[in-house]
Amino acid sequence: MHPLLNVAVMAARRAGSVLIKKMVNLGKLKIEQKGHNDFVSDADRAAEKAVIDCIHKHYPEHSILAEESGSSGNSDTVWIIDPLDGTTNYLHGFPVFAVSIGVQVSGRMEHAVVYDPLRQELFSASRGAGANVDGHKLRVSGQMEMPRALIGTGFPFRDPGLDISPYMAMLSKTMVHTSGVRRAGAAALDLCYVAAGRLDAFFETGLGPWDLAAGSLIVREAGGIVSGLDGSENFLETGHVLCGTPRIYREFAKLCAPEIKALLR
Ligand code: IPD
Ligand code: CA
Ligand code: CA
Repeated sequence: MHPLLNVAVMAARRAGSVLIKKMVNLGKLKIEQKGHNDFVSDADRAAEKAVIDCIHKHYPEHSILAEESGSSGNSDTVWIIDPLDGTTNYLHGFPVFAVSIGVQVSGRMEHAVVYDPLRQELFSASRGAGANVDGHKLRVSGQMEMPRALIGTGFPFRDPGLDISPYMAMLSKTMVHTSGVRRAGAAALDLCYVAAGRLDAFFETGLGPWDLAAGSLIVREAGGIVSGLDGSENFLETGHVLCGTPRIYREFAKLCAPEIKALLR
């Protein structure tokens, strides 16, 4: 295992333990509201500290881009961290959340870990070396037919003034033309589930780089395609994403082309 991936795995496991310990006393968590429907708790903060402490112990010179504490450092190697993806789920005791850590070197994603501490599933990838879950190779599904495909998504929920009708049009088309839609509430895991063949495609808008950094490499290394909804490469910046098996990705992008155009207008 590459030393950077090794540290990412250690950091994710430590953050996972913090989250599990704090989950026992959910009622005691201090919760702050960052924005409409956007919360942060001391569990997010403690998990983030555990990740950053672990990284800095091994690589004090590396840069950090973390959801709760922001960016620091000016190294070419940037650790992109979501210490708790699925905060709303976590705060409700809904058992779908994860720690997400991506390592970018000179602007390119090189290593990725997404850890689900409840299921103790550790998804990982290094560029060019494939993706794994707990030592087993990951491969996107071989699904060939849209009517049989299972699609993941995330609802736009943060901006109360947003016109959600273009998203709803895309969602209803997806419901009609596929075998089902899931909104599990943790984007990093949605991506990993595409990599694992549990979902055939996933789309969402309004995401942060920490939601997408690790999971996008894991999908690609599992043979999937990841891009912005419009096919663009800069999804970490735009925050809108479409990923899937090569076949379902292509067909889905074609099927929803008018809705995507309206959504991105
Ligand atoms: C959120 C989750 C959710 C997605 C949101 C993300 P957070 O991350 O991934 O599934 O719909 O857009 O922001 O805030 O729980 O880290
Ligand atoms: Ca997140
Ligand atoms: Ca988070």
